[in-house]
Amino acid sequence: MNRKVTVVGGAGNVGATVARAVAHKELADVVIVDIAETKAQGIALDIYQSCPVSGSSAKVVGYGATDEGFAASANSDVVVITSGVPRKPGMSRDDLLNVNYDIMKSVTAQIVKHSPNTIIVPVANPLDAMSQAVYRLSGLPKSRVIGMAGVLDSARMRTFVAMELGVSLQDVSCFVLGGHGDTMVPLPRLSTVAGIPLTDLVKMGALSQERLDAICTRTANGGAEITKLVGTSAWYAPGESAAVMVEAILKDQKKILPCSVYLEGEYGISNLFVGVPVKLGSAGVEQIIQVELTDSEKAALHKSAGAVKELVDVIKV
Ligand code: 2OP
Repeated sequence: MNRKVTVVGGAGNVGATVARAVAHKELADVVIVDIAETKAQGIALDIYQSCPVSGSSAKVVGYGATDEGFAASANSDVVVITSGVPRKPGMSRDDLLNVNYDIMKSVTAQIVKHSPNTIIVPVANPLDAMSQAVYRLSGLPKSRVIGMAGVLDSARMRTFVAMELGVSLQDVSCFVLGGHGDTMVPLPRLSTVAGIPLTDLVKMGALSQERLDAICTRTANGGAEITKLVGTSAWYAPGESAAVMVEAILKDQKKILPCSVYLEGEYGISNLFVGVPVKLGSAGVEQIIQVELTDSEKAALHKSAGAVKELVDVIKV
């Protein structure tokens, strides 16, 4: 294929899920790079061997996080970074700050050395701070560093709404803004079932305010819920979410997706990665969509941005 996607950290659960989704959707050939070299080779081979069954012609190869491995990633159209330490039960995403920052330093240098024109999709936590670190370390334009969080958070909210109302997931669209942490901002007013805002469903009596509040809280704690159940952080939904972003970029779909991007005044937030709706296409972030927010929504978004700012200030990026 004439497209290449590299997944750094691709032998881990999230990375392997991204690699598999990209290969099965036949979006690109896939290079898996991981410090666990033999595991990277094995996971890549396993995914490659699944391609004839799934009907994809994508090629999948695996390397260690060595000069050879990063050389094999050269000229990638998109690089997804899933490297990093995952959460253990009781750990917040923020506990991972310093350890994952050090990992971002080493992998970002290698990525831009071999793929100076790539688009990077960071997935490591704490997501917004790591995206900002990758942006600063890479020197890439802001349109080319796009953190994965909002797609996952809104997918979780969609699932909870569909479960609550007994409707098809396909009828549910949800908006979640802000940092990928406990302060994220699910927006019921802009989340809909067959076009009807959740707030209207409350007025109509189809959904109680109490259940809606519970859905929002469960969304904000969605990652911790899985971590507690499984013993490590989630991978299917995060991996599929990153792959959806890769697809929007490679197919130039102009999809409107919530992503963590560098804001310079939008939503009254400056010099900070925060999750907002953006248009994703072949140039990366092609537009930041500015939605009119109510005063309380604005306050919640700014509180969430404040939590991200505290983290970026610690690592000084
Ligand atoms: C999550 O929310 C891993 O942050 C990721 O599950």
